[in-house]
Amino acid sequence: MKQILIYLALLTTHFVTMTYCGRCRYVTSIVCEDDFTNPSEQASEKGEVGPPGPSESQEINDSRHGSGDVRKTGSEKGSCPSKLFENDILRRFKNLENFVRFDSCTNSPIDGNQFLRNGLQVYCEDRWSIFQRRFDGSVNFQRTWDEYKVGFGETEGEFWLGLEKVHRLTRGGNCNLRIELQNFDDVHYWAEYSSFLVDSEADLYQLHVAGHTGNATDGFSYANEPFVTIDKYEHSPPRPNCATLDGNNGGWWYTFWNNCGGSWLNGLWGENGRVYWKGVNPRPKATTMKFRCD
Ligand SMILES: *[C@@H]1O[C@H](CO)[C@@H](O)[C@H](O)[C@H]1NC(C)=O
Ligand SMILES: *[C@@H]1O[C@H](CO)[C@@H](O)[C@H](O)[C@H]1NC(C)=O
Repeated sequence: MKQILIYLALLTTHFVTMTYCGRCRYVTSIVCEDDFTNPSEQASEKGEVGPPGPSESQEINDSRHGSGDVRKTGSEKGSCPSKLFENDILRRFKNLENFVRFDSCTNSPIDGNQFLRNGLQVYCEDRWSIFQRRFDGSVNFQRTWDEYKVGFGETEGEFWLGLEKVHRLTRGGNCNLRIELQNFDDVHYWAEYSSFLVDSEADLYQLHVAGHTGNATDGFSYANEPFVTIDKYEHSPPRPNCATLDGNNGGWWYTFWNNCGGSWLNGLWGENGRVYWKGVNPRPKATTMKFRCD
């Protein structure tokens, strides 16, 4: 199935006959000499076809994400890369994403930034849509409502995808949420929720999660709440705003009646910062939030 998608993808470009599958693998017409459905095995068996050339080393640098390193290693050793992904082929054509669009990350074999059929730009990884990532504190997460709405940061670094996109991509239902945490002792945790959706802005991007599993506690146990930022929260009766309480918690789905709730992953970053997930001590250092819809 993957292969069919890729051939279709290649067919939609004008470059089909010029395409090759990697330094050692050439595409003749639209078929790779090697079957790249099982890249590592294939590469070791018959990867060493075809000469290297200057234009090819040039292209080794084109890979924008992940697999770039793998290919470079292969080139330095003068042997074929041990791993090739469909991504590399698709990525070769900078404009390919303008021709081939998938309806969701779930159906996209491409990792990285891409436009979906609905026009939204998302960041896909292993068929998940990544919507929050932090690991070094380089991006300020103390932001306004409008910034949390449209997103901020760079998808190759720390970022927040934007509540409006998360809403549009999850409103159809049948979405899972996965949260991955690494604390300052480098212990890893994960939590998944079998259902996840975010309401519209009119409903203050209220969170709906259920069905917790994982070895991180249920940090969202009280969090089916509206989103709150430093400049926007609506609560009746009025309560202190958890986004600014104790300094710098960032925008989140706070629970005002339960000490602000069991988590806030957009707080001030750092070992003595304000990033919080119930039961994760020391504090989370690296965080990823992602969803996948059926
Ligand atoms: C790849 O890019 C790096 C930095 O941009 C450069 O130093 C290197 O020579 C490039 N390699 C190839 C094979 O073009
Ligand atoms: C949680 O699960 C992950 C993956 O299964 C594992 O690597 C990690 O060590 C576990 N963490 C704890 C605290 O048990």
